[in-house]
Amino acid sequence: MNRDDIIDLSWDDFDELRDPRPEGNGFDQVVERAISRRGFLGGVLAFGSGATVFGSGLLSSATSARAQASVFAFEPVGIATDFDIHVPAGYTWKSLVRWGDALFSEAEGAFSPETGVSVEMSDKVFGENTDGMELFEVDGKQVIAVNSEYVNPKVNLPADSEGMPKNADEVVLLKHMQGVTVMEVADTGNGYEVVVDSPFNRRIHHDTQMTMDGPAAGSDLVKTNADPEGMSPKGTMNNCGSGKTLWGTYLTCEENFNGYFGATGAFEETEEFKRYGIGGEGRYAYEKYDPRYDLSKEPNEPHRHGWVTEIDPADPESTPVKHTALGRFKHENAEMVQAVDGRIVVYMGDDERGEFMYKFVSNGTWAEGQPTDGLLSDGKLYVAKFNDDQSGEWLPLTPETTGMSLEEILVFSRLAGSKVGATTMDRPEWIAANPLRVEAYCALTNNSKRGGDAMPVNAANPRATNEYGQIVRWRPEGEDHGADAFTWDLFVMAGNPEVHDDAYAGSPNVTPGNMFNSPDGMAFDSQGKLWIQTDGEDSNEGDFAGMGNNQMLVGDPETGEIARFLTAPNGAEVTGLCWSADRKTAFVGIQHPGGSWPDGTGKPRSAIIAVWREDGQLIG
Ligand code: FEO
Ligand code: CA
Ligand code: CA
Repeated sequence: MNRDDIIDLSWDDFDELRDPRPEGNGFDQVVERAISRRGFLGGVLAFGSGATVFGSGLLSSATSARAQASVFAFEPVGIATDFDIHVPAGYTWKSLVRWGDALFSEAEGAFSPETGVSVEMSDKVFGENTDGMELFEVDGKQVIAVNSEYVNPKVNLPADSEGMPKNADEVVLLKHMQGVTVMEVADTGNGYEVVVDSPFNRRIHHDTQMTMDGPAAGSDLVKTNADPEGMSPKGTMNNCGSGKTLWGTYLTCEENFNGYFGATGAFEETEEFKRYGIGGEGRYAYEKYDPRYDLSKEPNEPHRHGWVTEIDPADPESTPVKHTALGRFKHENAEMVQAVDGRIVVYMGDDERGEFMYKFVSNGTWAEGQPTDGLLSDGKLYVAKFNDDQSGEWLPLTPETTGMSLEEILVFSRLAGSKVGATTMDRPEWIAANPLRVEAYCALTNNSKRGGDAMPVNAANPRATNEYGQIVRWRPEGEDHGADAFTWDLFVMAGNPEVHDDAYAGSPNVTPGNMFNSPDGMAFDSQGKLWIQTDGEDSNEGDFAGMGNNQMLVGDPETGEIARFLTAPNGAEVTGLCWSADRKTAFVGIQHPGGSWPDGTGKPRSAIIAVWREDGQLIG
């Protein structure tokens, strides 16, 4: 495959290029028979009842209950295949900010529908491909911190570029269009708008100065020519999902960082590089124009990415901090909760086929008003093991359990997880913790590689060549997120009951009226409803017939009911969700739309939309 084709790949397809799926061996069909919809999904036991027979109790009692009356106060929307947004009757939406919109008045009008944004203005506008976001209340103002995950060079670069930068300036342009935006928003009375020139407004991108803390900071593994102390990395990249600390700072999660590195000369193709998908050719040719991304010159630079990075949205002068104690992998999001004894717990997924789920637990404890020093730099990293009997355990990653040094465990967490026998998962995406009950949910989006000897099916990931995905949830022992043990079930197995009548039809709470594929973004609202965003196949054909465009749904943890709330323009995924301070407006991210959405003409523009109820009531 040549370089021009690489740029059109999804990140999952890029993984496939680096680490191809083994040839099929007929196992798929065996599994399909073994977990038929009638046999596997028909018998349902209560959550955590101790069911021990694979195939009889994985789905919660909630997911068996067909709700008699909907718990949601809206009429679900049907599927869509067009290039527009659809919300339920009685709701309205409006674009809050689009790729290229000005954050500062000097950049007003900087975006051209034909040519995008110039390099001069590229760090003064909203970045491309919006993703995870959180809203903060700072001195009575509302401030959103939001990721721009990656960039589509074909819309950012001149038409003759064919999607690859041809000089250093074009690389700078791409670097600036990604990363994080901090921006103040305000309700104008007719929907929210960005407050241009707010002192909170800030762009953080691939060249922004950062610092590191935790046990791997300053280690030999993260030292480079430009930073011989290994304490001052630059840039945060491929910022996917997000998190919010209990003390009001933003966590941005570095996901497919591997794709930004390449080599102009010889470099050592180590086992660690291979496991992390780091190879000789980057997606954006950065390595040709910036030696920092050149593996033949700076082989440790990739070790400085793939972290959870903390940003203080209240202080535009603050230096972002990469927290090495939370491990290095393709971080999806970071969901922070608290153990009963006050320790900080962060749940995290590693989004690649067959990778793991992690948990960080601080050594120190915290309560409102206390100092936060050390909470995210001093603690223990665990990896999840899901047993087929619906029990599970968090396995500690320590020098004793792995035979690796602490620095190696953190920089090469994937290899550490393999050493202790963590469960290979179907691409862990967002994790969301229920604010009303001690439980958490992880979206397992899909896995084209599941099945066969290398990655056998297991109870939490029960389908081979899993094209639809599922959401697993767990309840920690003793109702304590600090506990080592948990019980688990599947809240939903996505599927298509119109095309299949076996396990690929999905769990009983999936119907022709709400079906979807590839759950990805997730967040709980304050009422304990689980919002689910999808990033899947939107062809509306074949196995995906009747599912339409990507969408946002809401699920009820008690009954298992799931209803479709919003549909995205064709081509887009829905990702990123937060609420205004009064909870009456939802901000929803629309990434990589097709057509000319939302302007109706010119290049398509990823955007955050505001959605609210016309009668001023709470959403959902
Ligand atoms: Fe950036 Fe795993 O989604
Ligand atoms: Ca995602
Ligand atoms: Ca995804």
